[in-house]
Amino acid sequence: MEKRFCIQNSPLLSFLLVLLLFISNCFASSQNDEVDEQVRVRVGLVLDLGSVEGKIVRSSVSMALSDFYAIHNDYKTRVSLSVRNSHGEPLLTLSSAVDLLQTEGVEAIIGGNSLLEAKLLGELGEKARVPMISLDSPISCSLSKYSHLIQATHDSTSEAKGITSFINGFDWNSVALVYEDHDDWKDSMQLLVDHFHENNVRIKSKIGFTVSSSEDSMMDRLRKLNALGTTVFVVHLSKVMVTYLFPCAEKLGMMGEGFAWILTAKSMNRFHESIDDFAKETMEGVVGFKSYIPMSKEVHNFTLRWRKSLHVEEVIGTEITRLSISGIWAHDIAWALASAAEVIRMPNVTSTLLEAITESKFKGLSGDFQLDDRKLLSDKFEIVNMIGSGERRIGFWNFNGSFSNRRHLSSTHNNLETIIWPGGSTQSPKGSSLKQSDRKKLRVLVTSSNRFPRLVNVTTDPVTHDIINVDGFCIEVFNASIAPFNYEVEYIRWRNGSNYDNLAYVLNSQKDKYDAAVGDITITWNRSTYVDFTLPFTEMGLGIVALKERSIIVWLIERHENPEFQGSWSQQIGVMLWFGFSTLVYAHRERLNHNLSRFVVTVWIFAVLILVTSYTATLTSMMTVQSIRFNSNKNYVGHLSGSLIAKAALTNSSMQTMRSLGLNTSDDYARALLDKNVSLIVSELPYLKVLFRDYPKDFLMVKKQYTTNGFGFMFQKGSELVHNVSREISKLRTSERLNEMERRWFEKQSSYPTDDKSNPLTLDRFRGLFMITGVSFAFSLAVLFILWLREKWDIIVHSVNIFLSRRLRHFRIIFTRTIHPSPLDNTIGENAIQMAQRNRR
Ligand SMILES: *[C@@H]1O[C@H](CO)[C@@H](O)[C@H](O)[C@H]1NC(C)=O
Ligand SMILES: *[C@@H]1O[C@H](CO)[C@@H](O)[C@H](O)[C@H]1NC(C)=O
Ligand SMILES: *[C@@H]1O[C@H](CO)[C@@H](O)[C@H](O)[C@H]1NC(C)=O
Ligand SMILES: *[C@@H]1O[C@H](CO)[C@@H](O)[C@H](O)[C@H]1NC(C)=O
Ligand SMILES: *[C@@H]1O[C@H](CO)[C@@H](O)[C@H](O)[C@H]1NC(C)=O
Ligand SMILES: *[C@@H]1O[C@H](CO)[C@@H](O)[C@H](O)[C@H]1NC(C)=O
Ligand SMILES: *[C@@H]1O[C@H](CO)[C@@H](O)[C@H](O)[C@H]1NC(C)=O
Ligand SMILES: *[C@@H]1O[C@H](CO)[C@@H](O)[C@H](O)[C@H]1NC(C)=O
Ligand SMILES: *[C@@H]1O[C@H](CO)[C@@H](O)[C@H](O)[C@H]1NC(C)=O
Ligand SMILES: *[C@@H]1O[C@H](CO)[C@@H](O)[C@H](O)[C@H]1NC(C)=O
Ligand SMILES: *[C@@H]1O[C@H](CO)[C@@H](O)[C@H](O)[C@H]1NC(C)=O
Repeated sequence: MEKRFCIQNSPLLSFLLVLLLFISNCFASSQNDEVDEQVRVRVGLVLDLGSVEGKIVRSSVSMALSDFYAIHNDYKTRVSLSVRNSHGEPLLTLSSAVDLLQTEGVEAIIGGNSLLEAKLLGELGEKARVPMISLDSPISCSLSKYSHLIQATHDSTSEAKGITSFINGFDWNSVALVYEDHDDWKDSMQLLVDHFHENNVRIKSKIGFTVSSSEDSMMDRLRKLNALGTTVFVVHLSKVMVTYLFPCAEKLGMMGEGFAWILTAKSMNRFHESIDDFAKETMEGVVGFKSYIPMSKEVHNFTLRWRKSLHVEEVIGTEITRLSISGIWAHDIAWALASAAEVIRMPNVTSTLLEAITESKFKGLSGDFQLDDRKLLSDKFEIVNMIGSGERRIGFWNFNGSFSNRRHLSSTHNNLETIIWPGGSTQSPKGSSLKQSDRKKLRVLVTSSNRFPRLVNVTTDPVTHDIINVDGFCIEVFNASIAPFNYEVEYIRWRNGSNYDNLAYVLNSQKDKYDAAVGDITITWNRSTYVDFTLPFTEMGLGIVALKERSIIVWLIERHENPEFQGSWSQQIGVMLWFGFSTLVYAHRERLNHNLSRFVVTVWIFAVLILVTSYTATLTSMMTVQSIRFNSNKNYVGHLSGSLIAKAALTNSSMQTMRSLGLNTSDDYARALLDKNVSLIVSELPYLKVLFRDYPKDFLMVKKQYTTNGFGFMFQKGSELVHNVSREISKLRTSERLNEMERRWFEKQSSYPTDDKSNPLTLDRFRGLFMITGVSFAFSLAVLFILWLREKWDIIVHSVNIFLSRRLRHFRIIFTRTIHPSPLDNTIGENAIQMAQRNRR
């Protein structure tokens, strides 16, 4: 803070010193001059005399002064010029100006055609209270505070309106702005940009070139503009850059039919300087706005004499053929200065030189000379069309908002004469108008590691590395969900590794280059701070995969589901018996005499043993998370190399202590598991689907965790397409098309081969076991019953016979009594008679 203060102040101090010196000088010189009859008024010229423009201004000013005094030879004042060469350097301009004030005692300074020079002169003029006149510097708000700065330049507001109307007249809704990356050019472009915004001309892209831009980088950026489908260009570049630009554009075929190029006045106003014919020829069809000086007898006369003077002055090369607009302004400014210098010396006048200049009115070469807010603005523009190596006027833009040619006047471009567009066509280019192009372009970054080609498979040209073809599950889903919106999708390879956080960041920071990104990109909160995700289109979550191992328990429990455990019946029974008996030997102690009870107990103990063992195993495995398996191996866990998701999952789990091994493809996964280089693989489900598709038999899904969000497509934040594409994804899912695509790419099984031990046991899983137990019990009971029957057969038959014959006789008696009932037979009746006899007594 302090340091900056010092830096700012030291020039101020020195400046004050300079000012003191200068004021005393002024006194001295004016005293000296009063001796002469004619008062000499010194005016400084600070110009880049190495440039054509500087030479023109210098000769124009001196010719104007001699013309002026030729007419007004009775004037008491004579303006004399002190010329300094600034070499185009702002600091030299400043020091020359200070020097002129100090040593020559100049009363006004003309010079400084860049923004910075104008600022420095404005600052100096403010302190010294001396008018500073800048020719052709851009109009900028930052200059308006200098009350002693006078600008002669073109009216950029009028120009901006003109270019905007011109573009609107052709229904071009979007343009590309090619500008020079330099303060002067950027500042003077601002009004144009604002006008474009206000009038619905979309600036599709802006590219800035510096003088040091190489031809390669120029070509590269133009090529990108071309690829974007841009056809209308507004060019705001210095002459040097223009002569580079158009040959490049020509090489890229951008100077052909269908393209439109518009040059701004700041670019065009320097075109009087010679441009090599090659560059000029490439510019055929370009349209330019140019400050217009009405051609009059006076202008013609002045130009002729000025051109004649060139041959005399050897300093000026023969390359200058036409007087520039700055030359005309310089002429008028010199006249104004000379007449003002005379006016302020009149005894009845008290105004300063600055006031006298701003109040002067006369007919100059550029029209009626009158300053408005210390500005001489040229607000009429001629529109020219480059043809061959020359230019042709096709009309005018008037400050009141109308186009005109010599005969007609109209508020639209229709009044212009026929324009020959690039490619020699008279048909006006269609432009990249939104109304007319029905297919919008979508620039999509695609992950291109090709590690899981079933997900994303990018085929490139081995030489040019350009994308030839893109397919895979993710791409097909994207293609299907973007299809209804009729976009032309351009895929661009993402080659910067598998850190997709960076991909999200790049997408966010290069909005002008990319619209979306697709591939095996997991939705994470970190990424969604930079981009917007669509709904996920894959299953969410991580899976843990291990090598399939054979075990007894699994045999029984899985025999319903798992084809591996099925064989011929005799084989299965053999295995079953072997297990049953071998376990019995150790588990059973009491002696059993009966073979049948031995059999039943054997089966039962076998069943109980299996139940107990299974529950124990399940409990153990649930509590130790597969620790048995881990311990049996080298404690490596595999994951997708470079995947942030897998890494995050590993660092916060029970597998934290295991060392990890990065793997790249499904073959890597399989080999690592089969070679027992890793005991487990942790990966996102879509990758595991590819693994199970490639190796359906060898692996088990040990566990699934729904801790990731699945894959989604990334779009720029706020993009309307996010919602549209999400809606399409959800349609695909509900209409089963997503499933169908999965089946096509993964040949999806109905479920993953899973390890039952990690799942809770249910009675249902023991169906087989209970069936065997039940059947053997039933069998034993049946055998027992048959044996018992055989032993007691005679007795049973005998007692059955006796029973049957007894029952038979009994039935017969009942039967006859029912038919011939006798009161004696009725015991109740007997009782009733006995009771009646007792009552009679
Ligand atoms: C230019 O005008 C002056 C008088 O204003 C005249 O003397 C001179 O001949 C003219 N020159 C040309 C080339 O017309
Ligand atoms: C000042 O005097 C001159 C004649 O000496 C006259 O032409 C001019 O109009 C006067 N100006 C003003 C402002 O009175
Ligand atoms: C606009 O200016 C041109 C030339 O300056 C003039 O001919 C035309 O009449 C003007 N139009 C309007 C509407 O003022
Ligand atoms: C990847 O694409 C290329 C070219 O389209 C094809 O030859 C190759 O088989 C594809 N790879 C897979 C795994 O689908
Ligand atoms: C994308 O879809 C279009 C039609 O909807 C089809 O022509 C094209 O082949 C598809 N591309 C890919 C890579 O699936
Ligand atoms: C990849 O990184 C390099 C430099 O690290 C960068 O130049 C390039 O633009 C990046 N690629 C993409 C597609 O962003
Ligand atoms: C996202 O992660 C990257 C590292 O991968 C980090 O540099 C960045 O700051 C993170 N962004 C946010 C918003 O946390
Ligand atoms: C990791 O786990 C610990 C405890 O198990 C928990 O406190 C922490 O929040 C977890 N971190 C993340 C990023 O999930
Ligand atoms: C996977 O790819 C990375 C980077 O390309 C490489 O460093 C690593 O060695 C590869 N791993 C395997 C197992 O091939
Ligand atoms: C697996 O281990 C074997 C020997 O232990 C080794 O030769 C091989 O390179 C390892 N493979 C991987 C993918 O690390
Ligand atoms: C999104 O969908 C809506 C309704 O289908 C449609 O009007 C709109 O144009 C779409 N947006 C884009 C960017 O395609």
